[in-house]
Amino acid sequence: MTTVIPIESQNNALALQVGKDQRVGIIYFGTKLNNASEYQHAPGMYHRGDDYSGILNSAYTPAGSRNLVEPAIQVTHANGNTSLDLQYVSHQVQTTENNVSTTSIKLKDPKYALEVTLYYKVYRNEDVIEQWSVIKNNEKGNITLHKYASANLYLSADSYWLKHYHGDWAKEMQTEEVRLTSGIKVLDTKLGTRANLYQPPTFMVSLDKPATEDEGRILYGSVEWTGNFRVDLEVDPLNNLRVIAGINPFASDYSLAPKQEFTTPAFLYTYSEKGKGDASRKLHRWARNYRIMQGNGSRLTLLNNWEATFFDFNENKLAELIRDTKKLGVDMFLLDDGWFANKYPRNSDKAGLGDWQENVQKLPHGIGYLVKEAQNNDVKFGIWVEPEMVNPKSELYEKHPDWVIRQPGREEHLYRNQLVLDLSNPKVQDFVYGVLDNIMTKNPNVAFFKWDCNAVIYNAHSAYLKKQSHLYVEYVRGLYKVLERFRAKYPNLPMMLCSGGGGRVDYAALKYFTEFWLSDNTDPLERIFIQWEYSYFFPAISHDNHVTDWGKQPIKFRTDVAMMGKLGFDIVVSQLEPKDLKFCQDAVITYKGISDLVWHGDLFRLANPQENDYASLMYVNEAQNRAVMFNYQTSSRYGSGTLSPIKLKGLHPDKKYTVKEINLYPDTKSTITGTTAYSGNYLMTIGFNPNLNTKRTSVILEINEQK
Ligand code: GLA
Repeated sequence: MTTVIPIESQNNALALQVGKDQRVGIIYFGTKLNNASEYQHAPGMYHRGDDYSGILNSAYTPAGSRNLVEPAIQVTHANGNTSLDLQYVSHQVQTTENNVSTTSIKLKDPKYALEVTLYYKVYRNEDVIEQWSVIKNNEKGNITLHKYASANLYLSADSYWLKHYHGDWAKEMQTEEVRLTSGIKVLDTKLGTRANLYQPPTFMVSLDKPATEDEGRILYGSVEWTGNFRVDLEVDPLNNLRVIAGINPFASDYSLAPKQEFTTPAFLYTYSEKGKGDASRKLHRWARNYRIMQGNGSRLTLLNNWEATFFDFNENKLAELIRDTKKLGVDMFLLDDGWFANKYPRNSDKAGLGDWQENVQKLPHGIGYLVKEAQNNDVKFGIWVEPEMVNPKSELYEKHPDWVIRQPGREEHLYRNQLVLDLSNPKVQDFVYGVLDNIMTKNPNVAFFKWDCNAVIYNAHSAYLKKQSHLYVEYVRGLYKVLERFRAKYPNLPMMLCSGGGGRVDYAALKYFTEFWLSDNTDPLERIFIQWEYSYFFPAISHDNHVTDWGKQPIKFRTDVAMMGKLGFDIVVSQLEPKDLKFCQDAVITYKGISDLVWHGDLFRLANPQENDYASLMYVNEAQNRAVMFNYQTSSRYGSGTLSPIKLKGLHPDKKYTVKEINLYPDTKSTITGTTAYSGNYLMTIGFNPNLNTKRTSVILEINEQK
């Protein structure tokens, strides 16, 4: 008898089997069976395990023994030997709460005192699994880990279709969908900080054919690591797909002392046989319930001064903007970059970063004065920081050159005129924590932080670490230590995760943040695409969207697009035409009325702008009695628009709904009045035409059950 270990969620199963030789293999991944005892018959159907090595389907592929393909783990033992074999020791299931249980499987090398435990944390209702491993050195001397993946999956289909992303500043989430051919496709980053500037750690794989919104077998995956990650997707000689994901082993050999353990970050995945929409709704639900800080809470609408002033402001100007915040009707004023540093004032991005004292010229009465001003105007006050970074032109750099990541004896290479602080060093961790803690201690009423991070790591070298190959890993651990400490003292303070460009968002960081900055590109036409792609993985409550002067679209279009997330403004309110101002003020009120749907509702993507002249999507509440539908014209070609109705989704077929256009520009009338009641069945079968065309480019519809 062989042992089968089924790891099941509501709809899916991952079945592992302990083979005759005690090796643990993956025998099944997909829809769960009614009877778990039948998983044992699956391997024969998929030709699993009948390759030369016998371990192509390994649950955690070791390097250096009989393996012939990409490993999940590669080590050098204390005695210099480079072979590894892993055999089953035991397994157990631990249920932490009704919906969450963790299966752990202990493996051991039969010849060496090296132990690996594989963890599979299952969120049952959401069909989400977080998978990681713990590697323990029980040998007498140090061992070296060359590769130490979080997870190793094995999928079977006739063909595999990878949808992945690339980007750069202002070009986030550019996407490609390709058929995976034999061999390995690698998604990775080596940037160190803001690691996903070129490539994010999120992707999806369709089985048999590219999944659509509502059909097809699809796996969503994401590495929970705010640093260098790597995902190997290998179509093996048996035409099965091996997925190995975790920390990027690039320049990161990790030495483990006797009795020491290495816990990898988690690899997160969900699987659906009902297409991309179902997969993302499951992931969103998981993210809101279990991961994103205050995922089921609310968010502060705001006015930011970045694009309104850049570095050029003083106390009076800011006091005026605070009054404008009140006038606009949003919850908070957010003071951006440029408020600090004296010896080398922060008047441009060339100097001052690292010197977190108020600039006395600009803010003679300090932050405290601004917080008071905000209070007098009945709005909250938030502030920008970029605590991991330093300009060479700063007092911090002069005092602590050894706190900076740089190669001794080499010319410095800057990114946005700045360098990265060495967060592997506990003193630097204290400093970074202190930046935020000092602001809070002096100004307990500060209500929000925008935590920015603009530089990548060049010339990776730490003056603190003895082993340079630990730097990329210890940097991220140092960052998490700071964030843990911050959250221990300030558990509820909302905070935005930001990079000049959406180069920094992942599901490890979102434990500490309520939201993230998707892109510096706020041109609303571009945003429709960027937000669309992010929406597969991250729910709208975490998307920070600001109305700015980017792009040529009218204020209504810009605002409507920003409403599909957390709404903010970064415009000069005092220069708005009276009608534009009135529109924005009304829009803030309208947004308050629908934000519950956007933040907590289920997202249904209706018309993909990559395939149509327009985009359409909707959010539906759990009770299915309210929804909001956003529609945008994305082409300016003559005659383009919604020639036919768009089918709605997620409503109750038997309920009756009214459909009303909201967020109208002052003095315009809509033909969509909300007087007719349609059944959900009608709206989901025939649909509804928002009448988009080149003159009517943005339409928001509110859908309410008629009782
Ligand atoms: C980055 C951010 C911007 C702004 C600037 C300030 O580019 O993405 O929103 O905060 O930094 O320097």
